[in-house]
Amino acid sequence: MSAPRALRIGVLGCADIADRRMLPSMLRQPLVEITAIASRTIEKARYFTDRFGGAPLAGYERVLERPDVDAVYIPLPPELHVEWTLRALAAGKHVLCEKPFATSLPDAEKAVAAARESGLLLMESFMFLHHSQHARVRELVADGVIGEVQLFTSEFGIPLRPGGVRASTLPEVAAYPVRAAQLFLGPDLRVAGAQVRPDSAYGPQPAGSALLTSPSGAAAHLTYGVEHSYLSGYGLWGSEGRLRLERAFSTPDDFTPLLRVERAIGTEEIPLAPDHHFTNIAGTFAHTILDQEPFTPHTEAILTHAHLMESIATTAAATL
Ligand SMILES: NC(=O)c1ccc[n+]([C@@H]2O[C@H](COP(=O)([O-])OP(=O)(O)OC[C@H]3O[C@@H](n4cnc5c(N)ncnc54)[C@H](OP(=O)(O)O)[C@@H]3O)[C@@H](O)[C@H]2O)c1
Repeated sequence: MSAPRALRIGVLGCADIADRRMLPSMLRQPLVEITAIASRTIEKARYFTDRFGGAPLAGYERVLERPDVDAVYIPLPPELHVEWTLRALAAGKHVLCEKPFATSLPDAEKAVAAARESGLLLMESFMFLHHSQHARVRELVADGVIGEVQLFTSEFGIPLRPGGVRASTLPEVAAYPVRAAQLFLGPDLRVAGAQVRPDSAYGPQPAGSALLTSPSGAAAHLTYGVEHSYLSGYGLWGSEGRLRLERAFSTPDDFTPLLRVERAIGTEEIPLAPDHHFTNIAGTFAHTILDQEPFTPHTEAILTHAHLMESIATTAAATL
C-alpha cells in the first residue's frame, strides 16, 4: 500500500499568525490537509474551521487524541511551545512549531531529545527561509558577484504601541536577523558583543543588537526591536561590492523583491520572483515526513539557533 499523499494536520490555538498567514497558506498546499483546529473556546475554533476546514475542538489535548491527525502546527505564545510540543510528541504526532521555538536552551534541548527518541519530526516554523529570494541571493554570493563577504547586516523593526510588549517579544523579533546571519555566514557563529535596551514605556527590553563573528572572520551586525519604525532587511558587503534586500522577512506573497547590487562597474536593481514562503514551509514539513527525508537537520537547526540566542541574551544582560 502506498503512503498517503497528504499529511493530516491539527492546529493548537487560533492565533493571529495562523489566521492571517499559515492556515490560508496550508489551504494552498496539496501536501497538507487540516483535519482539526482547537481553541480554548469552541466558538473561536468554529470561527476558524468555518474558513479553514477540519473539526472544531475545545481544548488542545482533544487534537492529540485524534487518529486522523498525523502532525500538529503550534502557533501558541512562546512560553507554551515546549510544553505542547512534548505533549504532542508523547501522543505520536509530528510537530511544526512557531518561532522562537523555546524560551531557554535547556527547554530546546529537552524537546529535541524527545523528538529524536520518538522518531518524529520537530521543525521550527522559520517560514522566511523558504522564500526563493534568499536562495537567489546565496547563488549570487557563491558566484562571487560581491567578492568575499566581510559583513552581514540585518535589521528587523516592528513598530508596536507603548505597553504592547510581552516579556517574550524581543526574542521573537531578534530571531529573524539571528537566523538570517546563520543562513549567510554558517552555523558556527560566536557572539562578540550584544546590547539590550532597558525597559521603557513600550515594555520590557524593547530593542537590542548583536555583533557576531564567523570562523572565516566575517562579522554580522544585527539590530531588532519594537520601538523603531518598520524595517525588515539585510545586506551583504564583500570585497568587490555589496547587495541589499528589503522586506526580507515579512514578505507578502504577491511582493516582487528588488535586490540592489552595487559594484565598481555600476548599480543594478534586480527584480526577484514573488513566492509563497508559508505555503512552501508547510510543503517542506509534509514532504519531509511523507517521503521520509532526514529529520535531524531540523532539530540541529533548533539547537544551533537556541545556543546563539541564549549566548546573545547572556551577553546583552551584562550591559544593563
Ligand atoms: N511566522 C511568523 O511570521 C510569525 C509572525 C508573528 C508571530 N509568530 C509567532 O507565532 C506565535 C503566535 O503569535 P501570534 O502573534 O499569532 O499570537 P496570538 O495571536 O496572541 O495567538 C496565540 C494563541 O495562543 C492561544 N493561547 C493559549 N494560551 C494563551 C495565553 N495565555 N495567552 C494568549 N494566547 C494564548 C490563543 O488561542 P485560543 O484562544 O484559540 O486558545 C491565541 O490565539 C508566537 O510564537 C510568535 O512569535 C510568527
